[in-house]
Amino acid sequence: MRIIVGVTGASGSLYAYTLIRTLHQLGIETHVIATKTGEKVLQYECGVNINDMKQFAEVHDDSNLFAPVASGSFKTDGMVIVPCSMNTLGAIANGIGDTLVTRAANVAMKEKRNLIIVPREAPFHLIHLQNMTKLAEANVSIMPASPGFYHQPKEIWELINFIVSRILDALNIDHKLIERWGEKQ
Ligand SMILES: Cc1cc2nc3c(=O)[nH]c(=O)nc-3n(C[C@H](O)[C@H](O)[C@H](O)COP(=O)(O)O)c2cc1C
Repeated sequence: MRIIVGVTGASGSLYAYTLIRTLHQLGIETHVIATKTGEKVLQYECGVNINDMKQFAEVHDDSNLFAPVASGSFKTDGMVIVPCSMNTLGAIANGIGDTLVTRAANVAMKEKRNLIIVPREAPFHLIHLQNMTKLAEANVSIMPASPGFYHQPKEIWELINFIVSRILDALNIDHKLIERWGEKQ
């Protein structure tokens, strides 16, 4: 299995860091593309340098449109953009693919592969909502970074794992990250 993870300059890079480490633990080939601001927010919020990700995944430069993930002929099982800025979301919703993150997302859409976008902004303005509607109409899964609280979390990692587990579910990847509602592990 092969997954692409895009990391952009929205808040919530801990979701991306946790997802990438979990994919590695599950033995899944992972390709990471961080935007320039994505790299900076990851460093600021998590104290993690993008180069630290190289132990878990293949890391591509967002400006490298020659990377394998820029082509539809490079087969993948899906792409997640987490967290997704309104900037990157707006570009993808309008067919723009001038960076590796936006190009790889366009590829996922044209090849009818699973694309999951985890937007983070508050509040949304009308154009954000219109862009998300456009993407949803094009079969993109919009998964807001808004964890549930019905599992009565005590610590931040439980909220993070809630969203990461929903992303893994959407990618059809088996995991035991959380206890499922109605099931005891
Ligand atoms: C600390 C920090 C947090 C940010 N949080 C968000 C956010 O939650 N959502 C968002 O859409 N933009 C956020 N931004 C603004 C984006 O980083 C900015 O729009 C940037 O151009 C996005 O570029 P990218 O899409 O190439 O990553 C944040 C910026 C900084 C510095």
